[in-house]
Formats: sequence, C-alpha cells, structure tokens
Amino acid sequence: MTDVVKTPAWARLEKLAAAPRPSARALFERDPARAARMSLEAAGLYLDYSKNRITPEIFDALLALAEAADLERVRGRMFAGEKINATERRAVLHVALRDFAMRAYHVDGEDVSKRVRAEREKMRDFTRRVHAGELTGHTGAPLDTVVNIGIGGSDLGPQMAVEALSPYWVRGRRTFFVSNVDGQHLADTLAAVDPARTLFIVASKTFATQETMTNAASARAWFLEKGGREADVAKHFVALSTNERAVRDFGIDPANMFVFWDWVGGRYSLWSAIGLSIALQVGFDNFEKLLKGAHAMDEHFRAAPPAKNMPAILALVGIWNRNFEGAAAHAVLPYDQHLHRLPAYLQQADMESNGKRARADGAPAGCATGPVIFGEPGTNGQHAFYQLIHQGTDLISADFIAPALSHAPIGDHHEKLLANFIAQQEALMIGRTEAEARAEMLAQGLAQKDVDRLAPHKVFPGGRPVNAIVMEKLTPETLGALIALYEHKIFCQGAIWGINSFDQWGVELGKTLAGRVLPELARLGEEKPAAAGHDVSTNALIDRVNRIRAA
Ligand code: F6P
Repeated sequence: MTDVVKTPAWARLEKLAAAPRPSARALFERDPARAARMSLEAAGLYLDYSKNRITPEIFDALLALAEAADLERVRGRMFAGEKINATERRAVLHVALRDFAMRAYHVDGEDVSKRVRAEREKMRDFTRRVHAGELTGHTGAPLDTVVNIGIGGSDLGPQMAVEALSPYWVRGRRTFFVSNVDGQHLADTLAAVDPARTLFIVASKTFATQETMTNAASARAWFLEKGGREADVAKHFVALSTNERAVRDFGIDPANMFVFWDWVGGRYSLWSAIGLSIALQVGFDNFEKLLKGAHAMDEHFRAAPPAKNMPAILALVGIWNRNFEGAAAHAVLPYDQHLHRLPAYLQQADMESNGKRARADGAPAGCATGPVIFGEPGTNGQHAFYQLIHQGTDLISADFIAPALSHAPIGDHHEKLLANFIAQQEALMIGRTEAEARAEMLAQGLAQKDVDRLAPHKVFPGGRPVNAIVMEKLTPETLGALIALYEHKIFCQGAIWGINSFDQWGVELGKTLAGRVLPELARLGEEKPAAAGHDVSTNALIDRVNRIRAA
C-alpha cells in the first residue's frame, strides 16, 4: 500500500508549508472570489472552508495527495463491501443501513440489504406497537419511558441524536441513557422512572461489555425487586446486538432482540437497531428521515470528485492543518444547544477511528494521525476555552456549525447566537495586529503608558483555521447528513494516512488490566493483603483504596 508520506504530493505540501505564505487576511484581500470558490453545498449542508490558510497551490497539492492515496478507489472498496477493516476481517457497510436507492450490498457473497430492510421493518412495527399502546408493561400501563443501557457507540450516537431532535419528540415520552458502570448513573436514573412503564433497551454490539452487562443485570434485579416477575421481564427488556447467543445467555428471549451485523462498527451503528431508542423517542418516520439525510450525504460522497466532495474536502483541509500546520487539536463548536452531545459523539467517532500509530499494513505511521477532538456548544465555549484558541501557543483548528433558523425563535436570541457564530470565525481568521490594538486603545482615550502596557496582550495572531457548516434548520434530515459528513471525513483521513479507521485495539489493554485489578479490590468491610503484583504506584493505589473500603 502507498505510504503517503513518501509520495511527491506529500513532499510538495511540505515545501508549500515551509515557504512564505500570505496571511489568511491577505488571502482574502487578494482574492474576492475566495469564499465562493472555497464553499459548496450538499445534502442540505453548506460548507465554507475558505478561512483556512490554504492557497490554490496548496489545495491542488492536497487533491494530488488524495489521488496518490487512491482515495476514490478505497471509497469504492468500502461501498463494495470489501473487508477494508483488515485486522478484524470485516466489511464496513454502515452506508447499507441507510440506502434508500434499493442497492444490493454484498458481504461474503450475500446481499445483506434484504436483512437490513427486514430488521428496519421489525423496528418500525415495534415502535408503532409501543406508541399505539399495543405493547404494554406487565400491569397494562403504557411503556412511555425508555432506559437505553449501552456505552460508547451503543450510547453516544443515540443519545446525541435524541437530544438533537428534541423538537420532534413524541409527546409524553421520555428516554434516559445509562452508560457508566458507576452505580450512581443507574441509581439516579432508576430513581426517576416507574418500573411498570419502563422499557429497558440493552444495547451492545458484542453483548460482552462489562459496563453494559453490569448495568443490565442490576436493572433487571431492580425490576424484579419492584414487583416484576421473571415472566414479565420479556415485556420490559429488549436487546440490540449482533450476538444472539450472549443475549439468550443473559436471559433475554431472542424474540425480543433486534439484530445488526459485524460489518457495522460500534461508533457507526446509530443507523442500525442501535437507533431503536431514537425511533421510540422521535417516531419511526423521523428516524427514517435521519437515515435519509445520511443517505443524501452518502450519494454525494459516493459520486462527487474529491475537488467537489464535501467529506473529502473537510478531510483534506484537516490533513493540511494536522500534518502541515501542526494543529494537534480540533474543536467541534455547534452553535445549537440541541447539539450539545455532538462533540462527545465525534470524540469517539474520530478518536477511536483515527487515533492510531500503526498503518493498516502494520508499518508505523510516518506522520501525525487523528487530532484531539473536543468542544462545547457556542456561545458557552466562548466563555470557557476560546481564549486558548485565539491567543494560546498551539494552533487549533475548529468547525463552527449552526442552523440559520431556530426551533425556538424567542426574541432576538437566534440573531445573537448567529452573530457570535459568525464573528468568532472572523476574529479567529483576521486576528488583530499590534498597530490595530494600539490604535483602538488610543481611540478609546487610554494613556500612552497603558497602551504600551496592554498592547502585547491585545494582539491576536489570526490565521486560526476554521470551517463553517450551515444548515437551514436542525432537522432529522440535516442531522443525518451532518453525521454522515463526519463519518466520511474520518474515513477519508484514515484512507489517506493509510490506517484502519474501523478497529480499536487501543481500548483493549485497559480492559484486560481492569480484569486483573478487580479481584484485588476489597469489598466493603473486607481486609485485603497488600497488593504486590504491579508497579509500586499501582500497588499503592490499590492499597489506599482498600484501606478506606475495609474501614
Ligand atoms: O471499548 C470500545 C468499544 O468497543 C466501542 O468501540 C464500542 O462502541 C463500545 O465499546 C461498546 O461496545 P458494545 O456495543 O459491544 O457494548
């Protein structure tokens, strides 16, 4: 496979990065067509990437890099169901879950699209029956409350989407998400729900994840304690998984199971049965619209050449900032309170996918790979961490995301929100020179000695790379398109870096060691011998905790 670092395109980009370059501000001054040239629309989203410090030569070199990495061929391999997740020998076909063009998708010679449609119909029917009150709890009360028990991809996607789509919630329904093995998470949730009206959805691709299995077992015990009988469990517990045997072993009837398949990665699974909590909370039609929005982005991604392809452009611009400008962190800044879980969702989607140091062929990655992803909704983040983005010593790139219309048009709230959304990007790009800072202070009537004292603190370097993503309104369709945009961006970056974006071996070591530590921890009131099997820091931590728990 191509080592992208050794290609002439990479060398050219290095050269362009080292050469003197106009400031971002100057790039705009010289080229009035810049914004029109460096923006595009697809699937209801508008992307403006013109505020990156990218010249036409750099953009051409980035396209050459995509070509050198054979991006279009790798994209074709994904859509064709080839096992591009080589370490796990799996296809990567989340796109098949939301294909409304009736295409066939083959995995090991089998067209999986029929199974996808059948499972989707099963979800539709289940959702309808719950909403119609045909399926009730054991007392005959409606199942108007859902507790989704899952973690990682079995939690973050559904939770993010349920929160994002709150204007579409079915009246009278509530959904809770329990992920942490910290018992407080489950206890707090159970304290807020009525067992007779609650449907527990145990969401786990593997049905082996410690946190989820522990929470599910405790929820089941609580249900029985609260008057449910063994025979009632079937009415209150369903499973979403790829692992039928483990579901059965856990005590959930496979008739109450919604399946998905090993070619759906956990962090790409909200489109599958894992989306059941979304469908129940917003209705199946809206869930389907979410899928359709993603499909619209898939169609764009599948067909558009890299120079006009929104996910590919976002990926290439990101590679420029990461590898050639040295931005080790990337902020996701939604100016929409309903998207408050988007940064957390994208942390998993991006960092678990592209936080890799070995290439797919096992060779070490010769360049930096996935950046640190973080973020908060605007304007809150402005009053928290933007300081560092504006004036810190590290370069940080950012995506600003906003709907032009609000679901809650109260007074001038949305105009103020949008003014901040736009002004922050402008400020990050243009910065403020010392001369400007001085002139402003003098105009405000400050004494010369104060101007001298404050001038260095009032300088903004500018040139902070930002992308703007604008949609008309946050709807199921635009949310679907937005998530798919990021999924494909992540795919493109992984393909160019030559890493496998679809495995996650990096989460294993901690899990194994936790399994070793667990039996060494004292139960409450239990005396344990001093720990000896670890490094001295780890032994001391175990002893410290055990002393407190023994007392
Ligand atoms: O530990 C990481 C991980 O495997 C994620 O990739 C996944 O989304 C999460 O755990 C949950 O896994 P599961 O759905 O199998 O419980």
